[in-house]
Amino acid sequence: MTRVFSGIKPTGHLTLGNYLGAVRQWVERDQYRADALFCVVDLHALTVEHDPARVRRLSRQAATLLLAAGLDPERCTVFVQSHVDEHARLSYLLECVATDGEMRRMIQYKEKSVKERERGGSVRLSLLTYPVLMAADILAYRTDEVPVGEDQTQHVELTRDLAERFNQRYGPAFVVPRATNPPVGARVMDLQEPGAKMGKSHESGAGIIYLLDEPEVVRRKVMRALADSGREVRHDRERMPGVTNLLEILAGCTGADPEKLAGQYTSYGALKKDTAEAVEEVLRPVRERHAALVADRGEVDAVLRRGAERARAMARPVVDEAYRAVGLLPA
Ligand code: TYM
Repeated sequence: MTRVFSGIKPTGHLTLGNYLGAVRQWVERDQYRADALFCVVDLHALTVEHDPARVRRLSRQAATLLLAAGLDPERCTVFVQSHVDEHARLSYLLECVATDGEMRRMIQYKEKSVKERERGGSVRLSLLTYPVLMAADILAYRTDEVPVGEDQTQHVELTRDLAERFNQRYGPAFVVPRATNPPVGARVMDLQEPGAKMGKSHESGAGIIYLLDEPEVVRRKVMRALADSGREVRHDRERMPGVTNLLEILAGCTGADPEKLAGQYTSYGALKKDTAEAVEEVLRPVRERHAALVADRGEVDAVLRRGAERARAMARPVVDEAYRAVGLLPA
C-alpha cells in the first residue's frame, strides 16, 4: 500500500491556504487510498522566535483542526512530531549527508532568514537545518508520497536527493519519495497582496482567511480582496493575480475548474460574493466540529497518544537500520 506522510507547522492559526493546498487532499483522498500519517511538526515551530505557551496551544489547536476537518484516526495516524524521538535521531544522521550549501539554497531559508534579521533578531541554526528535519520526518516512514502545497516542493526535492545519496553510500535504507500537489489551490495567495503566499502570520491578517474565522469575517475579507484594475474576469496569474486567486479559491472550494469559472462572471462583485459563500460552506462544518472537539480535550489527547505509538513502531526499525548502516555500534 502507498505510504503517505505530510505535516503542518504550529506557528500560527491554520489558513485556507493550508486547507486547499494540503489538508483537503489528506481528508478527501489520502486517508482512503493510502497508509497515511499526518503530523503536527512542533519541533519545526522552534526554528524562529517563539513563545512556549503559544506553541503548545497552537499544537493542540492544529491537531484538533485536522480532526475537525475530517481526518479519521481509525483510517490514518495523527500525531505530534516531538512525541516520536526518531525524527530528531534521524535528522542528525541526515545532517551528516547534507551540505551547508544545499541548505543555504533553500528559498524558504533565504526568505525567513532575511525576515528574522530585518526584525533585528538572529537566525537560529535550526532554521538553516530545517529541511533536514523535514527530510527525516518523511524518510523515517519509508514514505512514497508527500501531499503538500507548492511552497514545499523544493524541500521534498531535497529530501529525494538526501535519500538517494544516503542509499548510494550506505545501502538502500530509504524509499525515495515524491511530492504531490492538488490540481487547484496549490498556491493560495494573500487577498490583500496577491503577489505573496497566504501565510499563517502577516501583520494585519486582512488578506488571510483562517479556518476558524466567523462567517462575517470571511465575507468582509473576501469582499475587500484586492481585485485587479479593469473589469474583466480572466484566469491569468501574471496579469490578473487578484482575480485569478479568487477564481482558484472558488474552484478549490467547489471542485470546479477555475478557467471555466472565469467565463461565468462579468463582474468582480459577483465573483467575490460567490467566493465568500463557497468558503463559508467549506469552513462551517470544520468550525462546528472544532467547537465540539474543544469541549472534549481528552479525546484529542488520546488520539495523539495512540498516533505517536503507531508512528514510533513504524519509524523505529527504519531509523535503527540507518544507524547501523552508517557504522554506529548497535546498542
Ligand atoms: P506549513 O505548516 O507552512 O503548511 C502546511 C501545508 O500547507 C501548505 N500551504 C499552502 N498551500 C497552498 N497555498 C498556501 N498559501 C499555503 N500555505 C501553506 C504547505 O505547502 C504545506 O503542505 N515545512 C512544512 C511542514 C513540514 C512537512 C514535513 C510537510 C514539516 N515536515 C514533512 C510535509 C512533510 C511547512 O512549513 O508547512
